[in-house]
Amino acid sequence: MKTRAVLSQLRPYVPGKRIAGGIKLSSNENPLGPSPLATAAINDTLGDLHRYPDGGAGELRSAIAARWGVSQEMVVVGNGSDEILVMIAGALIEPGTNAVTAAHTFSQYSFATRIFGGEVRTAPMKEGRFDLDAIADQIDAATRIVFLCSPNNPTGTVVTAGELERFLARVPPDVLVVIDEAYGEYVTTADYPDTVSMIRDGAALVRLRTFSKIYGLAALRVGYGIARPQIIDAISSLRQPFNVGSAAQRAATVALGDHEFVARSLENNEREKTRLCSFLEERGVPFIATEANFVCARFGDPEARDVARKLAERRIAVRPLASFGMDDHLRISLGTGQEMDALYEALQAILGG
Ligand SMILES: Cc1ncc(COP(=O)(O)O)c(C=O)c1O
Repeated sequence: MKTRAVLSQLRPYVPGKRIAGGIKLSSNENPLGPSPLATAAINDTLGDLHRYPDGGAGELRSAIAARWGVSQEMVVVGNGSDEILVMIAGALIEPGTNAVTAAHTFSQYSFATRIFGGEVRTAPMKEGRFDLDAIADQIDAATRIVFLCSPNNPTGTVVTAGELERFLARVPPDVLVVIDEAYGEYVTTADYPDTVSMIRDGAALVRLRTFSKIYGLAALRVGYGIARPQIIDAISSLRQPFNVGSAAQRAATVALGDHEFVARSLENNEREKTRLCSFLEERGVPFIATEANFVCARFGDPEARDVARKLAERRIAVRPLASFGMDDHLRISLGTGQEMDALYEALQAILGG
């Protein structure tokens, strides 16, 4: 049994609201649904449901390795990238150690660290962006992991290539930097770092991606990490033998090659991002420029909560950000054109004018 002190520090994850039959813009999922090639491929696995999955996830890991030009030994897959975060923390964190991240980011970095009795240190952010100098200043002899999120959930900002290179030069060699790129496929800025090539060049970096976002497979729970083989070995020592199911492995493998679906998803995202930003601009609602599939907008405190409640009354779920320490903001996932039209109509009515 863990000590009471560790357990009492754990806060349950606050998921995006779902409203039966309503519009869900609260969990940054793909509004176009799952990759159609992936759903078709799941059928291939049904006859084998009585068999355990391939524990080594050979086909999926080899597809990921080929996609990124790395060896299979540099790839670990997990039951969502959430599970990989826990495996990484389990490999490195113990009581007396700490992990450093930013003040307003994905809560699972804290959760994973605290499960193993570690302390979480947070650095202030600048206009919704990770301030890597402030993060580096928090690192001490007991730091084992730095968690970066790029694009950051919930602000949508990225760490640039120059910022990351300067930061890595400052980080002590025994600190592992985890860069969570769950929304990486949506990024359009040329400043986005090629983290796989940095890893190939020897950086002590783990890069996480997921099939839950652009590939539309959140329900199947598949994420993956890329790092140097010794780091993958250390992480994999905590892996459950059959952590990713057969249907999930097959669907993810096929989804990786569904370029048409990815392109269509990106197109929808770009179009709806432009529309939402124009809408907010016209209404005078400040927002943070995003590289992801959501926009973080400042409605005020307590107005943000009121707007979320009134949208929910109209059967539209968005994400209030109190659990991210941003009470005055809402995070709005980019939906289909039709879903966003309904959002604009509802917001017009709520905000007046
Ligand atoms: C930044 C970030 N990382 C990881 C995840 C979890 O991804 P997965 O579904 O692969 O566990 C999310 C989910 O919302 C996320 O926002």
